[in-house]
Amino acid sequence: MISSSTSGMSSSSSSSSSAFESVLVAVRVRRVIQEEEDKGKREAQWEWKGNQIWASPSSSSSVVDSASSSSRRVFSVDRLFGPSDDNRSVHSSVVAPIISGVVQGYNATVFAYGQSSSGKTHTMLGDEADPGVMRRAVEQIFRHFEEECEQRAVQFLIRVSYLEIYQERLKDLLLDPAEHPSPPRLAIQEDRDGNSVIANLTEVPVQCPEDIFTLLEMGERFRHYGVTNVNRHSSRSHAIFRLIVESSATETATLDASEY
Ligand SMILES: Nc1ncnc2c1ncn2[C@@H]1O[C@H](COP(=O)(O)OP(=O)(O)OP(=O)(O)O)[C@@H](O)[C@H]1O
Ligand SMILES: [Mg+2]
Repeated sequence: MISSSTSGMSSSSSSSSSAFESVLVAVRVRRVIQEEEDKGKREAQWEWKGNQIWASPSSSSSVVDSASSSSRRVFSVDRLFGPSDDNRSVHSSVVAPIISGVVQGYNATVFAYGQSSSGKTHTMLGDEADPGVMRRAVEQIFRHFEEECEQRAVQFLIRVSYLEIYQERLKDLLLDPAEHPSPPRLAIQEDRDGNSVIANLTEVPVQCPEDIFTLLEMGERFRHYGVTNVNRHSSRSHAIFRLIVESSATETATLDASEY
């Protein structure tokens, strides 16, 4: 089936030894979903070949410039996924190499953007049948450190935070509003190294992937969802899920647990 919507995923990494350039752009074209078929949408809106994509000539998409519709605009990207690609493919091709850099100590970000209903939540969170790239990344990180621990004396600590930006307001998704009716005010600040940090944001230490999935589910419950014309379960906000990974060789260094 041919798709009607696209979502973009970008990743950035400070790793100079990464297999990728510092910014990688992937586009995912999903299939036409049932709700769209019910509204009579069957036509393809996009066509693609290799890593190039363009609006199909029959499309009413705004990317087709009506003044010069004869000269189609072609977008070149680093990776292109079609309707037959699942979240596993997206993870193994785009996210797994980035996580390999993370466990070596590099900072990295993966984010999804696109119009409502294009498939951002599906790609990031997924479902039981096809877990999203966030779950797969978490499992990959734990797998890595478990293997490391078997081979050499290593200890690792992971903590997570989950932040929502809704109508320019910051919300701590790891604080249950029923238990914290007046949560501490969150503020974007710079630390001594010039990194952006969110003052007062909860960071929870975790022991296993299930701990993280429980926190993710809890955070999702507190997020703003709504209905749009094109998505019955639309995330109405931006959300930043952050994993902080620290590891050290136990022979040479001991992690200071006091910061937790
Ligand atoms: N690759 C895909 N394969 C099958 N179904 C998909 C795919 N991507 C998205 N969908 C379905 O399309 C619908 C909209 O997807 P999703 O909720 O992920 O969009 P979104 O980009 O997060 O939208 P919003 O910005 O409104 O939150 C959902 O029903 C989802 O299950
Ligand atoms: Mg969404």
